Amino acid sequence: MPLEPLIDASTISARVAALGDEITRDYQGRDIVVVPVLKGSYIFAADLVRRIDLNVEVDFLAVRSYGDGKESSGVVQITSDLSHPIEGKHVILVEDIVDTGLTVSYLRQNLITRQPASLKIASLLHKPARTRVSVNIDYLGFTVEDVFIVGYGLDYGQKFRNLPYLAVFADDSR
Ligand code: IMP
Ligand code: MG
Repeated sequence: MPLEPLIDASTISARVAALGDEITRDYQGRDIVVVPVLKGSYIFAADLVRRIDLNVEVDFLAVRSYGDGKESSGVVQITSDLSHPIEGKHVILVEDIVDTGLTVSYLRQNLITRQPASLKIASLLHKPARTRVSVNIDYLGFTVEDVFIVGYGLDYGQKFRNLPYLAVFADDSR
């Protein structure tokens, strides 16, 4: 399938560095727990944590909200939970993309019940045209149009996560 580059690697890298600086400033003197939502955010999170100059713990959550296609099922399921309690901790949930908002809003509600000291959201991408539940994104990489995006961790049918840049399908017709 033909791919069209959308955001190149050096633009991504500069934006990720800026987000890392912002997080470093906002949390001065505090320790944080970064929670990447697998699998989509693993590359963004790996780059982001290396731009944060604080004591950082990393713990993972895996969810299923999509089949292997482009449409959300609307049902969010945690398929692998955190390995440690987050009570009293400063948590940053890291997503690849906020599309309908269903996944992030479900995870936010779920994590809040575990009583973290604070909970913020970082997302590489936001697709506002598709919002079904609005969520506040504290650290946002880029706002994108309503097109299906792959690369830099994002997949289509589990493929294309390894592209070092963000791309769209040239014949995207959604
Ligand atoms: P939401 O629950 O609709 O906000 O989106 C949940 C998940 O759908 C995201 O974390 C992504 O894994 C996936 N997703 C949404 N839009 C795209 C896209 O354009 N490309 C790849 N994955 C996407
Ligand atoms: Mg995905």
